[in-house]
Amino acid sequence: MTKHVGILTAGGDSPGLNAAIRGVGKASQGYYGMQMIGFLDGFRGLVDNRFKRLDGEILSGILTRGGTILGTSRDKPHRMLFGGKTQDMTDVIVENYHANHLDALVCIGGGGTQKNALKLMEKGLNIITMPKTIDNDVGLTDVTFGFDTALGIATDAIDRLHSTAHSHHRIIVVEIMGHRAGWLALGAGIAGGADVILLPEIPYDLEVVADAIRKRSRSGKNFSIVAVAEGALPLEQAALVQEAEQRKLKATSKKDKKDAKEDLAQLSLEYANHTVLLSRQLEQMTGLESRVTILGHLQRGGTPSAADRLLATRLGTACADLIESEHYGVMVAARGDDSIPVPLEKVAGNKKLVPTDHPWVISARRVGTCLGKVD
Ligand code: F6P
Repeated sequence: MTKHVGILTAGGDSPGLNAAIRGVGKASQGYYGMQMIGFLDGFRGLVDNRFKRLDGEILSGILTRGGTILGTSRDKPHRMLFGGKTQDMTDVIVENYHANHLDALVCIGGGGTQKNALKLMEKGLNIITMPKTIDNDVGLTDVTFGFDTALGIATDAIDRLHSTAHSHHRIIVVEIMGHRAGWLALGAGIAGGADVILLPEIPYDLEVVADAIRKRSRSGKNFSIVAVAEGALPLEQAALVQEAEQRKLKATSKKDKKDAKEDLAQLSLEYANHTVLLSRQLEQMTGLESRVTILGHLQRGGTPSAADRLLATRLGTACADLIESEHYGVMVAARGDDSIPVPLEKVAGNKKLVPTDHPWVISARRVGTCLGKVD
């Protein structure tokens, strides 16, 4: 009997999503003879039952396109703004899944999507997920698609910032995305030869950073590139966040949990413009002029790299194989040259941060990069 597959993209967009949709679509329909529909705008499209058929020409010419032909959103099935209030819409999703006679639903996304997909799996749906995010922070996969493209964009930006920093004898503080993970800042910082790299995983001592820049000045290098991850924090702030997170984890009453959550929200508000603050502080401490570049959503846009197209196609076609063999409740992970299924319950909530002894961290130190903390 012909299998019916639904697919959606959720969370922030990232290069390689269309390559993944094409990979699943061409293999499942062209190779296995299934039928596939794509829900629009993430989980919201599944609630509204808005979809398009992914047959015929629609999958042609999208391999190289950035973004997602399906649209995306950060809507969560169990906490969705609907009819003016936040509601649990999982039962509606289950109804629509059955109304469309689906045999499987493919959810492509990052950490949040893996958790949302698990909730649908627990409601009895046949779910397969794929790991995409420029942050590269999904557990149990070597890499996520989107990361390589963003890495190239951020590295290119650092290359360009070098020549202007050098000409004006300035510090340039470049903020790189990655949410709470430092993969993108670390990778681009190393590849672009940043002099300082600051990561969420290694809270920084401002004095150590200023000192590294002063040392460069004394040796005649009176410009510096500081690559700072958007989630990087100075020591004092990181301690406050850690304390509030512990309180949230250990809270035994609703009130304690709410208080801890509010404190965390307040801390993140206070620190929203930390890159600008860091630049100002470094200017004062070193006497060098400093400028800020926030790369922002540029890192998510445009044509996917060859590596991301390859990864997304490889995981997409492996996903179709798993649907054919009815192997559900898994994420298709990249492991070496293989694409392997890993249980969704082990992936959901499993954030992959940069280990402080990761080979990239060690290499950065070996080439003399300041990581904001004395070894
Ligand atoms: O998860 C991808 C990401 O680009 C993060 O690096 C960043 O923190 C976040 O999304 C930004 O989200 P939004 O596009 O919703 O502002």
